[in-house]
Amino acid sequence: MGYMSEVISIVSGKGGTGKTFTAANLSLALQQFGEQVVCLDTDLDSPNLALQLGHTPEDYTMEDILKGEVSELKAISVHDSGLMFVPSSLHLTGDRISEDRMKEVVDRFSGFADRMVIDSPPGFKEGFYSSMKISDRMIVVTNPEFQAIQDVKKIAEEADKHEVNIEGIILNKVEGMLEEASKEEIESTTGLEVIKTIPHHKDVLKSIHTMRPLVSDPHSKVGHSFKEIAANLTGNQFKSPWYSGLVRGFKKITGV
Ligand SMILES: Nc1ncnc2c1ncn2[C@@H]1O[C@H](COP(=O)(O)OP(=O)(O)OP(=O)(O)O)[C@@H](O)[C@H]1O
Ligand SMILES: [Mg+2]
Repeated sequence: MGYMSEVISIVSGKGGTGKTFTAANLSLALQQFGEQVVCLDTDLDSPNLALQLGHTPEDYTMEDILKGEVSELKAISVHDSGLMFVPSSLHLTGDRISEDRMKEVVDRFSGFADRMVIDSPPGFKEGFYSSMKISDRMIVVTNPEFQAIQDVKKIAEEADKHEVNIEGIILNKVEGMLEEASKEEIESTTGLEVIKTIPHHKDVLKSIHTMRPLVSDPHSKVGHSFKEIAANLTGNQFKSPWYSGLVRGFKKITGV
């Protein structure tokens, strides 16, 4: 698309599928593979990227950038890992992201990041299209519900129309119940590949509560999933340490 950094949007039809959780963990995982990443929170109505990264939005936010009140660079926060991100305001401001403005913002960041990850709002409103049209590829996050598959289909159709690649689906919050849509059903209905299946796991809630993303834990199985996705995106290899299972077992027994 002519940008210097590759732009990946994390999208979904329904709310609450795990986009922000994905954006935070994937950005950190890419960073762990040596990339410089900028992650943008474009979900202006219910932002929580900063919180999931253990920050409270400080001086400047995405809204200030959109209004042109501060320079893009001033609104960057930096995570301990070196990940750069732009939070959105915790207050409802009524701001919106037009496609043109989004292009300008992404262009501005593009020069100094290998990759940009966009945490998009749910649904098919302006924010979705603004993210999609500046993306080189999108990752769709869905839960294993039959209704959700229809949303994924709509995303696939829109992406097709606008000639944007979809890297694949992250099937999140899988509990293994019979009533759930399976990976195969989702793939055959949508024509997209499920690139990773992530279980519904209490560690996710815990990690969000403690504001410590799971990729920061070297032995988390969910964390390893994101490292595998990041490895694929960057042409690297990731193999989970052989003793991670032992460490997890030990933690379970001792409750640490
Ligand atoms: N694999 C998982 N296991 C358990 N809980 C999860 C998992 N993934 C996400 N959650 C929980 O689901 C909730 C929604 O996650 P998240 O905020 O990432 O979704 P979202 O798609 O960004 O939502 P929104 O559309 O509102 O922006 C959070 O409370 C999170 O803790
Ligand atoms: Mg979100």
